[in-house]
Amino acid sequence: AIDSNFDQNRERAGEENGVAVWGPVEPPEKLGIHGTHVAVDYDICLADGACLENCPVDVFTWVDTPDHPVSEKKVEPTNEDQCIDCMLCVDICPVDAIDVDAS
Ligand code: SF4
Ligand code: F3S
Repeated sequence: AIDSNFDQNRERAGEENGVAVWGPVEPPEKLGIHGTHVAVDYDICLADGACLENCPVDVFTWVDTPDHPVSEKKVEPTNEDQCIDCMLCVDICPVDAIDVDAS
């Protein structure tokens, strides 16, 4: 599962598609955690898609991640500032790849 203390345990490595990326990042195998309020562990996400299909405010968009060992696309929390903290994505992801900081 994603480390919910990633913002303390990882270094911010940059930004992609307008969201923060938390390292380590060593493409194509290691892609880090994307987002801060809504965070997706790219090394755990297997492109199930339930988060994207069910988020009531369309926070997520697909991005291609060619040659990543788990899946060749991932969800970017592009619109994380729109999140209403419903926690649906956290509950529905089959591999616990998402953390939402609702505090
Ligand atoms: Fe969307 Fe709810 Fe997840 Fe926020 S917590 S990203 S609103 S599904
Ligand atoms: Fe990935 Fe989980 Fe969404 S596997 S696509 S973060 S439901």
